[in-house]
Amino acid sequence: GASAASTEDSWRKVNFHNVYKDIAALLEDESYDDGSYGPVFVRLAWHASGTYDVGSKTGGSNGATIRFSPEADHGANAGLGVARARLEPLKKKYPHISYGDLYTLAGVVGVQELGGPTVRWRPGRVDNKTKEQCTPDDRLPDAAQGADHVRAIFYRMGFDDQEIAALVGAHALGRCHSTRSGYEGPWNASPTAFTNFFYTELLQNTWVPKKWSGPFQFVDKPTGEFMMLPADLAFRTDPVFRRHAERYAADQDAFFADFAKAFSRLLELGVSFPADAPVYEFKALD
Ligand code: HEM
Repeated sequence: GASAASTEDSWRKVNFHNVYKDIAALLEDESYDDGSYGPVFVRLAWHASGTYDVGSKTGGSNGATIRFSPEADHGANAGLGVARARLEPLKKKYPHISYGDLYTLAGVVGVQELGGPTVRWRPGRVDNKTKEQCTPDDRLPDAAQGADHVRAIFYRMGFDDQEIAALVGAHALGRCHSTRSGYEGPWNASPTAFTNFFYTELLQNTWVPKKWSGPFQFVDKPTGEFMMLPADLAFRTDPVFRRHAERYAADQDAFFADFAKAFSRLLELGVSFPADAPVYEFKALD
């Protein structure tokens, strides 16, 4: 039978335009969350990639160790099995795509199909890692912490303050789930649209501690409908992060351009691409 393993060259047999379309067809589902798997696909792509450590050159999307235990069970990855399960039929349909390519491409589809910028993406990740190469449980950010922690986590990936401030704008999408992270609620009223609303909500609202028995988080005053994580507030209180947040709140095009660059770079951390790997700029479907 056909081997489901991807090898170094097997991506050459895959028509990624077709994969893009097939992922896009998986997004909409009225019975799931706010009606789209886009946000959780973006989160899967980010958590598959954000484990990269520039110092040891370990982690990152190549090898897709996020699908193995113990990494799959790290607290930060709670709920991402839902996204992996949704994508699994495409791994069957396109056995030559690697999991790393599939998960990162799903993030690109999520951003673009929800109205975000075009994200340059290359294939070439290989399923060449085992569960022994799972990353330690300290690579992804802890939402309970502030600017120092956020910097330490993203500097380990090799990002600077501007890139960090741009990346977190993905918190325009989706929501927190008390059953996953423990936190609860969406960041704004249109969680299935990629916008600069993370920054506008963050800077224009009054954020007060949520009164509940769950983890410490903020809600907007007076409605209490929207939320911010303690780590999100760092982009309002830290003066350098705030300067970028203000720029992105005022200029959605600037946000889109910077997000697209930083997100593309995030998805490529630690991946060595073949010199002739094509760079795709997929067109959003309509
Ligand atoms: C959701 C933390 C950065 C994309 C979440 C959740 C937490 C969190 C706690 C809720 C998970 C749940 O309960 O389902 C953080 C922290 C960050 C950070 C502490 C760094 C300061 C990022 C970045 C991206 C991103 C860089 C992408 C570029 C998302 C998305 C969701 C999400 C799209 C919504 C997922 C859904 O609706 O299922 N994040 N995150 N986050 N995060 Fe982040």
